[in-house]
Amino acid sequence: MSRIPRFLEHLKTGFTAEAVSAARYRANAVKAEQDGHPNLARRWRRLAEAKDALAIELLEAAGQVRGLDADLGDAISEERFENDILYPKMIRDVDEHTANVFLRVVNAQKEHLRQLEALREETNAAQGDVALPAGVDRGTAPSAPES
Ligand SMILES: [Fe+2]
Repeated sequence: MSRIPRFLEHLKTGFTAEAVSAARYRANAVKAEQDGHPNLARRWRRLAEAKDALAIELLEAAGQVRGLDADLGDAISEERFENDILYPKMIRDVDEHTANVFLRVVNAQKEHLRQLEALREETNAAQGDVALPAGVDRGTAPSAPES
């Protein structure tokens, strides 16, 4: 029995469904690119963006986007759970090839966790927005100034 209200559970289910579609469409775009169909790839990516927008709407409706430290705290908890409990449990349950896929994910996520923790420290220390270090693509930040 779940303790969270039914409407929240359904909003989260909708969020997961749309977020998964977005990721899957991006994978399809990579495949289309590899197969020499760049326009098909672009159209998959455009649909993925539309799915992202729906996922965002559902997560906001669930009250799960709160800003600053709250969101960073959630992201850090999720990564820790996945790295410490979820993936190790699955790694013990699969063949070596699959285990190696999960191990690569865990290693990448360790770095993501470091970045999230650094970001939380910076966010708590900053008066306004955090700095944008070299190597972070300005183009993906909506408020990035034109250069
Ligand atoms: Fe993760």
